[in-house]
Amino acid sequence: MNKIIVTGSCGYIGSHTVVDLIQQGYEVLSVDNHINSSPDVLNGIEKITNIKPKHYPIDLCDILSLEKIFLENPDVQGIIHFAALKSVNESVEKPQLYYYNNMVGLLNLLELTKKYKLNHFIFSSSCSVYGQANELPVTENTPLQDAECPYAYTKQAGERILKDICIANKLLQCIILRYFNPAGAHSSNWIGEDSINLASNLVPVITETAIGKRGSLTVFGNDYNTIDGSCVRDYIHVMDIARAHTMALQYIETNRNNTNCEVFNLGAGKGLTVLQVIKTFEELTDQKLNYKIGPRREGDVEAIFADIRLVNEKLKWKPEADISEILASAWAWEMKRSGKLIG
Ligand code: NAD
Ligand code: WQD
Repeated sequence: MNKIIVTGSCGYIGSHTVVDLIQQGYEVLSVDNHINSSPDVLNGIEKITNIKPKHYPIDLCDILSLEKIFLENPDVQGIIHFAALKSVNESVEKPQLYYYNNMVGLLNLLELTKKYKLNHFIFSSSCSVYGQANELPVTENTPLQDAECPYAYTKQAGERILKDICIANKLLQCIILRYFNPAGAHSSNWIGEDSINLASNLVPVITETAIGKRGSLTVFGNDYNTIDGSCVRDYIHVMDIARAHTMALQYIETNRNNTNCEVFNLGAGKGLTVLQVIKTFEELTDQKLNYKIGPRREGDVEAIFADIRLVNEKLKWKPEADISEILASAWAWEMKRSGKLIG
């Protein structure tokens, strides 16, 4: 059985990926310092898979504690690295914290990857590396614009570090996955998006408004040059993202080519406006959402969505869930965690 270290394993995307990895027969070593998650997530993973992964509640910035995982597990095959701080706004307020956490965490892992001769590394990147791209949909070769915030810069810099290290170390196989807008939850309702930090992404803001945790939702601008004036994004189900990681691992386990650092977009390949997402939610749940139109949010790009032909061709991955399934699962999860859904 292949043993994989998953950092940020108790977070939103990490936990869903751990479920998929276990179900595909991987043994997962879980690493998370719970700066934005609860260890209870491991119970949810166990409910779904009947397996509770071995967990290390460790900060990646503490290299001595981190090294213990490698010493205890000489048979580890690879690393999937989710752990990072991810709030755009917080990164503007606390750039030093973001640079320290996201860069030192990555560098420590890469140091140990080299020392213990691991060859497989998968990195969580983000569509935020593109900024406002000049062409849509964006391909993996679309030029990156200046990062709009320190968070986005940690992803651009992380990508560059991995590319440089892969040039120097030809044995290291690395895959960089650029997620667009992940949303939704596992169909069991045992895990979902449950940050310690207040949600600010559109889908949880919609469900929290609908359940009554928030009074209303503000649509950030309706004067963009889009079909209805609101921003366009590419929403992708978190389980589709999770499955792409398992497929990426399987791909690097079997493929070896001269580009040992490959980059793939993970989106649905389709752009939707904020108002289209709200309307879909209203139709799906047969309710009127309390929303108002507000000013533009600083730093928002007008439109972005992914070209996903490369990931389809190379990993044979394609998204399965559409926006209705994404919203239905997010709504079921919201009702479950608010005690309004039994099961
Ligand atoms: P999340 O905050 O839910 O999960 C990240 C996890 O990493 C958390 O459980 C947190 O406690 C842990 N963590 C952070 N710093 C750590 C450290 N120094 N040591 C150990 N654990 C640490 O975030 P997510 O939504 O699951 O995102 C996972 C990854 O995907 C991140 O790298 C994020 O930047 C990236 N990403 C997320 C999105 C999104 O919209 N959710 C989009 C694109 C990229
Ligand atoms: C989506 C759309 C908002 C909330 C962010 C990060 C990006 C990546 C994904 C990590 C936008 C609008 C939102 C609200 C709204 N994360 N909106 N009212 O900004 O596309 O991307 O998450 O890597 O790096 O920047 O996602 O969900 O915040 O916003 O009108 O209350 O919804 O303006 O157009 P975003 P989002």
